[in-house]
Amino acid sequence: MEEADVKTAMEESLARVEGGDLGVLKRGPLVDLNSRLKELAAEDRPRFGQLLKDARQTVQARIDALAAAKESAERAARLEAERLDLTEVLPGPPTRGHLSLVTQTRDELEDVFVGMGFTVAEGPEVETDWHNFEALNIPKAHPARSGFDSLYLDWGEPESTLFRPHTSPVQIRLMQSQPPPIYAVMPGKVYRKDTPDASHNATFHQIEGLVVDHGITFGDLAGTIDEFIHAYFGPDIQTRLRPASFPFTEPSAEFEVSCAVCGGAGCRTCSGVGWIELGGCGMVHPNVFKAVGIDPEEWTGFAFGFGIDRIAIVRHGIEDIRVLLDNDLRFVTQF
Ligand code: PHE
Repeated sequence: MEEADVKTAMEESLARVEGGDLGVLKRGPLVDLNSRLKELAAEDRPRFGQLLKDARQTVQARIDALAAAKESAERAARLEAERLDLTEVLPGPPTRGHLSLVTQTRDELEDVFVGMGFTVAEGPEVETDWHNFEALNIPKAHPARSGFDSLYLDWGEPESTLFRPHTSPVQIRLMQSQPPPIYAVMPGKVYRKDTPDASHNATFHQIEGLVVDHGITFGDLAGTIDEFIHAYFGPDIQTRLRPASFPFTEPSAEFEVSCAVCGGAGCRTCSGVGWIELGGCGMVHPNVFKAVGIDPEEWTGFAFGFGIDRIAIVRHGIEDIRVLLDNDLRFVTQF
């Protein structure tokens, strides 16, 4: 064996590697030469052993480089195949998102009331039993409690904490946080244990109104409702109050508007009666004033509350309230 034989075997091996034979160090010319080491004179073996080892290392380095290149090429191909083009521009003019109909309605109602001199306040969506019921003159055994289909939380004493089923507890918080006179509206999300149908969602929105001042009368309440209904629906709509009962107001009423779809003649939307009930209202009950430390001999007030989602579907003639939360673009893009 000559040194030139080692060089030739290495070059042949490298050529085979280039040709794709990555197993050339297991089966190839350098392996053959290695098995012939024993034919050499004892004093030559170490030198040739070292030469063969160096040659194998050179070939191995090439094998490693090719294997790495192959793997990164495969990886790049895989990434390219899986690539999502998040900058893809769809044909046509760009479309922009906008506020939901519920939020637009809430903003519009706030504007109407701010224009009438009211401020806007908010309260928590998770309430205590005291703010939601007790302070509103609905004690523990009161039948009105069951009418609220409340969702209680597993927090503190049983039935002490709940998702608020109405915005009336914000009245309580407001009266505790500031002295009269108060002219405020309180919009927000409310929750009930309701099965959704065409006129109910388990999650919906209300706006609460509260006025506390000297000499406030039921006439002020009726006038305020008439005023905001006309501001929101336009001049052609009629309003009316019908006797009702709420524990936190006395006397109490429900307010209704003439049906915007049929103009009061009677249709499917108003179930043939020509009127649509929007919410409740009344003069603040003295017990509510007492609960928050306001003297009912000195101050009087009125409160009202109604569904934001509901007033929106009435104005726009929407037959099913559930579409408000569906995020169906065919509906959403109409507003
Ligand atoms: N909180 C009542 C409800 O959700 C509505 C209401 C508010 C009635 C204020 C009277 C006064 O049904």
